[in-house]
Amino acid sequence: MKILVIGSGGREHALVWKINQSPKVSKIYCAPGNAGISQLAQCINIGPDKIMKLADFAQKTKIDLTVVGPELSLSMGIVDEFTKRGLKIFGPTKMATEIESSKVFSKHMMEKYNIPTADYCTFTDNKEALAYIKKSQFPLVLKADGLAAGKGVFIVHNIEEARTSLDSLMNEKIFGDAGLQVIVEDYLEGEEVSVLAFSDGQNVVPMVSSQDHKKIYDHDRGPNTGGMGAYSPVPFYDENSKNKVLEDVLKPIIAGLKKEGREYKGVIYAGLVFTKNGIKVLEFNARFGDPETQVLLPGLETDIVEIFMAVIEGQLPKIVIKWKNNSIVCVVAASGGYPTKYQKGKIISGLEKLENKNDIYVFHAGTKFQKEEIVTSGGRVLGITAWAENINEAKKKAYEGIEKIYFEDIYYRKDIALKAIK
Ligand code: GLY
Repeated sequence: MKILVIGSGGREHALVWKINQSPKVSKIYCAPGNAGISQLAQCINIGPDKIMKLADFAQKTKIDLTVVGPELSLSMGIVDEFTKRGLKIFGPTKMATEIESSKVFSKHMMEKYNIPTADYCTFTDNKEALAYIKKSQFPLVLKADGLAAGKGVFIVHNIEEARTSLDSLMNEKIFGDAGLQVIVEDYLEGEEVSVLAFSDGQNVVPMVSSQDHKKIYDHDRGPNTGGMGAYSPVPFYDENSKNKVLEDVLKPIIAGLKKEGREYKGVIYAGLVFTKNGIKVLEFNARFGDPETQVLLPGLETDIVEIFMAVIEGQLPKIVIKWKNNSIVCVVAASGGYPTKYQKGKIISGLEKLENKNDIYVFHAGTKFQKEEIVTSGGRVLGITAWAENINEAKKKAYEGIEKIYFEDIYYRKDIALKAIK
């Protein structure tokens, strides 16, 4: 089979790496890809927002299956366009993707189908939002309705912070139309867990659990990032939690979407918070998580291409999805200054020291070739991912690995997976 993967991050490198292990696959393309991906796939210079060009490429190249990484492509209707042209593609339609691309739709769905989440109100008027906030208890969470590259969420502690955030969303329109409608919701206090699942529209099969580290600094301090590292599985995510999430969250959302005429095929990502009042949904995403994918796929035993095909064909129950009994840790190496200003073009050294190992792999994100050298080209640069029998060992290996890598101004958190270690 010829496979096309859309995207250029660590998530897409992990997808390409796993797809490459399938005996069904003869050739992989990735659009646009990165330096690491180019060692396994042919990179094609088409961005994830160029839906027509991607579909033309897939048609011309006779791609058998396309796998979509970023929410941007999904929210623009890539699945609808490919399907219209008779091309097989893994991911939800534009309407189903609204579970991520419209936070307001997502909250309404949770309310309608009794899925536990924070109490909320939605506003299109700045003054009405402020009046509501004045009567509420801080901290509160303000969310832009639309996609904002992971930056559309503000935790506010007083009325001044709320006013500033509302102004930037609704008046300055820092995220364009995405911030014209705003959600104000209660802050959920507790540990976060990511549970991703495959859905074929009818059936839902959860993957193992993982935990992201969203803040830039150790001990969850500082501004949010795309994710500074992750580990899997999460020790406190026990059998009872698994059943609850399947019955109270995953099954109802998939059934609800089907009932609303938005049949959901692909990966559904439930961002959960373990509060003192039970497990609540923080958000749904319509895709694989990043960096979660880097700590999930090395533990997947089943051929991922078989899973993709079963999802597309609505035949998930026909396959058994197996996971290895290992622990996995990914530490992200970022450019100094990320998530705000950072420099690009720094030469990366030491990568060869981690090649051809059977317990560690370096997933590339913001990297590119500059003549013969690999240089940084983004905020999150690499995800050094290690696996072992237990989380302690996996963490040790990941940190020993990252110490072998160097580029000017390299920054990484020193406490990834620390919470999982007793
Ligand atoms: N790790 C967060 C996300 O993928 O949205």
